Amino acid sequence: MFVVRGGRPLRGRVSVSGAKNAALPIMAAALAARGTTVLRGVPDLVDVTTLSQVLQSLGMTVERQADGALELTAADEQRCLADYEMVRRMRASVCVLGPLLGRRGRACVSLPGGCNIGHRPIDLHLKGLRALGAEITIDRGYVFARADKLVGTDIYLGGSFGSTVTGTCNVLCAAVFAKGTTTISAAACEPEVIDLGRYLNAMGAKIEGLGTPLLRIQGVEELNAVEYTVIPDRIEAATLLIAATMAGGRLQVDNVEPMHLAAVIDVLRMVGVGIEIQGRTVCVTAPERIRSVDITALPYPGIPTDVQAQLTALLSMADGISVVTDKVFPDRFMHIPELMRMGANVRREGASSIIGGVKTLTGACVMASDLRASAALLLAALAADGESVIRRVYHLDRGYESLEKKLNQVGADIVRVADLPETMPASLQLSDEEQQPLAVDSSDSPPPPKFLSKSEFARHRIK
Ligand code: EPU
Repeated sequence: MFVVRGGRPLRGRVSVSGAKNAALPIMAAALAARGTTVLRGVPDLVDVTTLSQVLQSLGMTVERQADGALELTAADEQRCLADYEMVRRMRASVCVLGPLLGRRGRACVSLPGGCNIGHRPIDLHLKGLRALGAEITIDRGYVFARADKLVGTDIYLGGSFGSTVTGTCNVLCAAVFAKGTTTISAAACEPEVIDLGRYLNAMGAKIEGLGTPLLRIQGVEELNAVEYTVIPDRIEAATLLIAATMAGGRLQVDNVEPMHLAAVIDVLRMVGVGIEIQGRTVCVTAPERIRSVDITALPYPGIPTDVQAQLTALLSMADGISVVTDKVFPDRFMHIPELMRMGANVRREGASSIIGGVKTLTGACVMASDLRASAALLLAALAADGESVIRRVYHLDRGYESLEKKLNQVGADIVRVADLPETMPASLQLSDEEQQPLAVDSSDSPPPPKFLSKSEFARHRIK
């Protein structure tokens, strides 16, 4: 867990790592390459380790080189099973489905199952693959897919909530091997999908229209392994910009693609943040007060759903009322009750939250429910008065590379300690008086819980 001492402005310079959500489908697509793939900019994350294990179980060798590059080679192309025990740890494992089917003609991939951010079916992935001629059945929780030869066709990939990011990736990876021409309309336009498409094209694929909702793919026989560098993580960049806005100060964020952040930068300007952009650097200066604003998370180029929780944390400190709506994942609001433990004033209404801004948040013990919720709680803790404890930060480790180290380098005070109930810092403990029951005679009441002293607490610190 993290123990965060809030109220420290952020000043200095940080650099954004490679994009998790580009790296994962690209790593999966390396399954379809002949030879050794060298990927640069793949962040060192739990999700990357999990996918590496899935790929190893599918006959790939995956090795991190001394210079940070990830080398992947398909050593045994007979294996086609992505097991439940691995897939259940990370939904993005489903990205192996398209490349396996395209290259090996067969795939047996566990259905990903439940998720903390809402209902996440893969019906559109399967619809696209079936349209290409794959025979697909679902049995005992697994997707069994088989195709002797995929054939190009016209596929509409839109769903009730718009396009699908990993669905587009899966169908794209299979369609590059289909005989003839495939069109995908209502394709996702996210930069991570473009990055996968560019990587496939670098290997010899023929994809046109990347970044638009209409993709046109001319099938090829083979893809040859290449060296490729993954784009910077726009969600990490947004998280850092919001961190400095909430904690105060001035932060220079390097290795950013500002175009990918246009919607987030627009929101930050609307709430009063000073933003300067120079090449691949964005410099943010926190305002005295944050103005309220109504925002809606939408598919790209709209405000990303992956930044909705962080923006909710920001707007919980704004002057006035804001409405935050998520049209991509309408149930992605697990962070709200935890933000309310820190003094935020938020009411959920369907796919929206209505936020009455408060002047200050106060430190509290809170629990992370998923990756972006943990980021939102960390940002709130940086801005809050006093100390906070954030439990279950393993969610954060899945998708942010060294976030607490990066923030500490620019002035934050975040300590990682073992996640044990007795490691609660003294400032969050209730006094003996506060723990007393109302009855005057307390002889039968259980003794108050024992907490560690400050020096004992320090021993639990994780370096
Ligand atoms: N949907 C369907 N059917 C499908 C697929 C999706 O109805 O077959 C719905 C979903 O339920 C959702 C919407 O379509 O309402 C969009 O889902 P999408 O498929 O685009 O999400 P995803 O591909 O599973 C990726 C990211 C998510 C990010 C979303 C939206 C990766 C590995 N994951 O998920 O990232 O929130 O796109 O941009 O790329 C995160 O990084 O924290 C994260 C959750």
